[in-house]
Order: sequence, then C-alpha cells, then structure tokens
Amino acid sequence: MRITGLPAPGPGTPRLREALLTASFTPEGLLDLLGPSAHAALARGETVPALRATHPDDGPLAVLTRLFLLRRPVAYGVARGALPLDEALGEGWLTRDGDEVRATVEVRPYATEGAPGGDGDGAGSRDGWIVSDSRGAPGADGAAGQAPDVVLGAGGASATLAALTVRTPVARALDLGTGSGVQALHASRHADLVTATDVNPRALRMTALTLALSGAPPADLRLGSLFDPVADEPGYDLIVSNPPFVISPARDGAGLTYRDGGMAGDALCRTLVRRSAAHLAEGGHCQLLANWERTEGEDWRERLAAWVPPGCDAWIVRREEQDVAEYAELWLRDAGLHRGDRAAYEAAYGAWLDEFAARGALAVGFGWVMLRRTGAERPAIRVEDWPHAVEQPLGDTVLAHFARQDFLRDRARDDDRDRDGGQAGLLSARYVLAEGVVQEQVGAPGAEDPEHIVLRQRHGMMRATALDTVGAGFAGSCDGTLVAGTILDAIASLLGEDPFTLREGAGAWLRPLVEQGFLLPAG
Ligand SMILES: C[S@@+](CC[C@H](N)C(=O)[O-])C[C@H]1O[C@@H](n2cnc3c(N)ncnc32)[C@H](O)[C@@H]1O
Repeated sequence: MRITGLPAPGPGTPRLREALLTASFTPEGLLDLLGPSAHAALARGETVPALRATHPDDGPLAVLTRLFLLRRPVAYGVARGALPLDEALGEGWLTRDGDEVRATVEVRPYATEGAPGGDGDGAGSRDGWIVSDSRGAPGADGAAGQAPDVVLGAGGASATLAALTVRTPVARALDLGTGSGVQALHASRHADLVTATDVNPRALRMTALTLALSGAPPADLRLGSLFDPVADEPGYDLIVSNPPFVISPARDGAGLTYRDGGMAGDALCRTLVRRSAAHLAEGGHCQLLANWERTEGEDWRERLAAWVPPGCDAWIVRREEQDVAEYAELWLRDAGLHRGDRAAYEAAYGAWLDEFAARGALAVGFGWVMLRRTGAERPAIRVEDWPHAVEQPLGDTVLAHFARQDFLRDRARDDDRDRDGGQAGLLSARYVLAEGVVQEQVGAPGAEDPEHIVLRQRHGMMRATALDTVGAGFAGSCDGTLVAGTILDAIASLLGEDPFTLREGAGAWLRPLVEQGFLLPAG
C-alpha cells in the first residue's frame, strides 16, 4: 500500500537496524549519552536539554538521536557516518533537502522482554525501536497541532497495558488498534502469529516499520474497525487493546483517531468488551484499557460487570477516577487547545461538559478490563477499586488470578455437595503462603495483644488485608503440608474454641485470602 510520506520497510531496513545497534542507539545507550535529566525531559516531550547534551557531538549515537528523536536536520556528510544513508533515503526513512537530510518518522529505542532463547539474530533480543510520528508541541501531552491521523509512539497507557499483559507463549495474538505497533512488538516475542488491526492505514505502516526495524517477524496487518477485520478468524489466545477510549464530543472520525473512538460515551469500550468473547479461544485472555462513565445513583461496579460477555471470567480494576471537568481539561491539554485562542478553548470545554451532561455523567473511571474465556456456567467476575501502587509487570499476577478462579470454582462445586457447613471444598485443600507476604501488627506500644493484624503483599497487586488471630495463625501455618481443615482443628484446640464453629466460619475469610493471592493452592 502506498502511504505518502512514510518509509516502506525493505532490504535496507535490517542494515539500518545493524547501524542503530552498532551505535548503541538503545535505551541504555541513550541514557548514557543524554544523562538522566535530559533523558527524563525528552520523555516529557522537551527537546532542549537533549539538544544541548548532543551538541556538537557528531558521533553516530548523537547523530541518530538528533535525526530520529529530536527530528533535526543533519548534514548529509555527517549522517553518512552514522547509518547506511543512501539505502535509508531510498526506503524513505530520510528525505534529502540540498546538503541536509531529515528523518520522516520518529524512531525511539524500546526494550521488550526477549523470547526464551532470544530471537536468534544474535542482536540482543530485547532491543527494539518504536516507529511513529513525533508528539505535538513541547509540553503538550499528546498530539497538539498534529493531523487527525497522527500515530503517536508508546506512552504511559501503552506501557501500562504492556506490563499487564500475560506473556505465556501462545499460538495466536491480536492487537486491536495497534498504532505504532508497540503491543504487537511485545506479542511477537511470545506469539507464533500476531494479527494487528487499525482503522488508520498510517498506523498499520508504522507497525510494519516497528516490527521490521526491531527484527521481529512481520504481523498479519488488517485495516478496519473493532473486530470487523477478524470477523471470520478462529479465536485468539490473547487479545490486547489500548483502544481510543477517550470519551469526547467528537463523532465519527471528527476527532483525533488515536484517542477519539467516535461512539457516544463509553460505547466503544463496552462494545469491545462485549464482542471480545466471540474472538477468544477457549482459555484465552483479553486485556484492555478502558474509560467508563459514572452517572448519578449508579453503581459503577454493576455497570462494568454487566459489560462482561457470557462464558468469561472477568477481573476489572479501576485505577483512578476524574470528575468530568478534570477529565475534559486533561484531553483539551492533550490536543494543545489550552495554548490557542481563549474563546475556542472555552467553546471546546463547554462542548465536553454538554456531552457529559447529556447522559448525566459525573465522573470518568479509568482502568483495566481483563477477561478469560472459560465457558464456565458460573463465571467469576471481580470488579474492584485499586488506586494504590502495584509492582509491574503484572502479567504473571493476572495469569495466577484467573487460575485461582478455576480452583475456587472447582472447590465451590464440592462445597455445594457438602451438607455440613458448605466449606468442604476449601477446607480439604492445602495452601502455601504467597512469596513475600508479611504480617504487620498494629496496636498501642507495650500492649499485650495487637489491635489489628494485617497481611501485606510485597509483590504484584501489593494488597493488604486485616485478619483476626485465627486467620493469621492459619496463614502462618500454610506451608502446603497439612490440609486446611486439619490446621483449623489444631488452632481450635490451641485456643480452646469449637472446631465446628471455626470450620463453618472459615469460608468468609479463607476464600478472599485465596482469591486475592495471599494464599495459593499448594501444587
Ligand atoms: C490509544 S492508540 C493505541 C496504540 C497502541 N496500541 C499503543 O498501545 O500505544 C489507539 C489506536 O486505535 C486505533 N483506532 C481508532 N479507532 C479504532 C477502531 N474503531 N477500531 C480499531 N482501531 C481503532 C487508532 O488509530 C490508534 O492507533
């Protein structure tokens, strides 16, 4: 496909990749060149410190940085010392204007986890590059002043999704709304086939460039909206999407393609979640970022739970919420409108507020929607608010969460059959305390007994939960050797309590301890 102004990957691309590696145009190399302050400024979209740090250095690393990140013209003779210039010009990575050359795209060093055993080209499997347009004006968060079909590089949301994604080796992965191809690049490290879709043809080209330059296998690229381009495909083992989730007044292509999905309210995210089950293979995971509205008198948890398609377990986490005014300001700044004409800014701000008012929306939640297709009759749906710090990456935590849901579902079946107390399923299993869980005791200094006992995770979701002496004693005894019921009976006799009563009440605290990952089923 011909796409004006963008490179087309060709035989020169592996040689460009070689040149980038030779010059150490990698995340570590860039940090060494710029130093932490200029490096951090560049991540904020500010180029002045990096320009000063690379001037007047004409070494290959400084030249590549000026060309591909700072987007400055470089003298032809100087650029020739840094990369295979004529091939790069031929494939459209650069254009020539008299004695100077310029990059046509941003190329940003980016590290991904290597596939087990590396990717086989001997070139450091973790090093890749994200090819994209550059951000808008310095200081703007997003695409200020850019064309509506601008394709941005990997931002904070991209990193969040990448760190959340389950990275087990799979046969088929789908990256819906691929943009610069950052999620497709990650998926290429652990999926045999990656399909990447987008409504923006420029995004598909950027993805092809990102993969080719990073030495990853090419993806199956498909143009179209939501699941339309893969309607007839068999189910995927992994679906990831950082969709255009912004809730804005822009409709049907009138906004910025990377963020304004064009559907009213949170309809795009809802549609994605609802339709995902039909495109998931049995046991497959779907992981998306989403925004959703909260309206007066509505329980947002119920609203989100109602999005979950039949046959899927779900884990939905709200990471933050903003009131509608704050939210409108965030995205007006993203588009750079706060820097322009005051009257235009006020009109745009008003349009956002009208949009929310029309549906009675008070606030917008941002979070993660994670599904696993199980086909279970009784799906496990957990919707929670967790604005606290977590330890990234969380892919293994997500995988383990869904595995524990299978375990709890199996045990619940046994509980149903148990006529005495209904805990048999849970109490006949063995558990181990998850690695890194510690106990904290809170109480008055010098007091004999603590007022609260808290178990705290030091990994993953980094949760904390309060327990009584029985629960804490139980958790401390879980090393996988004794079944839960036997441990409880021992605690009952130690504390002089009725073992039947302890067993009967155990489900109320044991089930959440397992669900939240404090205790893991042994083996
Ligand atoms: C927020 S960007 C995410 C890009 C990239 N996946 C990442 O994680 O950084 C959303 C992408 O979805 C694309 N998009 C917009 N509307 C879409 C639709 N209806 N169907 C599929 N993709 C769409 C945009 O062109 C853009 O590339």
